[in-house]
Amino acid sequence: MAPLIRIPRPGAAKESEATPRALYLRRRDFLGGALAGAALLVGCDGGAESRTDEAARPDEVTPRKDATSYNNFYEFGTNKTDPAENAHTLRPRPWTVAVEGECAKPGTLGIEDVLAAFPRQERVYRLRCVEAWSMVIPWLGFPLGDLLKRFEPTSKAKYVQLETLWDTEQMPLTRKPTLDWPYREGLRIDEAMHPLAILATGMYGEELPNQNGAPLRLVVPWKYGFKSGKSIVKIRFTEQQPYTTWNASAPDEYGFYANVNPDVDHPRWSQRRERRIGELAKRPTLPFNGYGDEVASLYAGMDLAKLF
Ligand code: MTE
Repeated sequence: MAPLIRIPRPGAAKESEATPRALYLRRRDFLGGALAGAALLVGCDGGAESRTDEAARPDEVTPRKDATSYNNFYEFGTNKTDPAENAHTLRPRPWTVAVEGECAKPGTLGIEDVLAAFPRQERVYRLRCVEAWSMVIPWLGFPLGDLLKRFEPTSKAKYVQLETLWDTEQMPLTRKPTLDWPYREGLRIDEAMHPLAILATGMYGEELPNQNGAPLRLVVPWKYGFKSGKSIVKIRFTEQQPYTTWNASAPDEYGFYANVNPDVDHPRWSQRRERRIGELAKRPTLPFNGYGDEVASLYAGMDLAKLF
């Protein structure tokens, strides 16, 4: 089954679909992102502008209002509507991201440096939450690997840990130990370097709203959504598998890998099917969220029922 990876060709925006502001942003991104986008198209797509599932119902982009009002961002509350209501206290500027650990050139980047250095592309990806709901979101971002390479990871860098903001002033609810703050996630280095793994700074042609993880969040479309840490402040190259928040809080329920897998149920619910936000009938869940052709080889020889 073909995955949904829509990467518009430079200049190929459908003007009728975009608002003037979105168009402005997209044009700017396409111009800057032409080279990277073209390289990925060859790797993943043979040059086609888009691919959608034929066997399943077509994947429609989730309405922006749903993707920005039905969120998980526990720093702002545990109900789905809490982040949109509460995240106005987050200040996404000024913002810095520190990169440290097993690399030759550790350092710190301001968010403006990030935006200037890494041309953004639009990526339309499915997002599958471990809670068995899903959306289709047009992100604006760039490959995580492009940023990581600048810091020259050493041969000891087997993993990366991403740490997100913990500031009790901007996130008053984090005075309570709902989770072991700061929210941390991680990837194996080859997963992090995979061209489908992106750092997003925008969605729907605009900057990221606070509730979606402004100003910088991870998006790893073949993994459950909890891997995609929001409002990242630190990236650390490690030799050992890093601490990750959900895995530490309930290791039987949330694996380190968290690859979307309809064959491995959550202990408290099935992962066979999912509720696409905005639809009534459930959809079948696809292995690796439908991105298996691109990523399954990363897991060759691994028992994904054990290393879930
Ligand atoms: N990042 C932080 N810092 N805190 C969180 O609670 N929730 C995760 C992930 N990133 C979370 C987070 C979960 S469970 C999901 S499903 C996605 O964010 C949801 O992203 P969205 O609200 O943009 O759809």
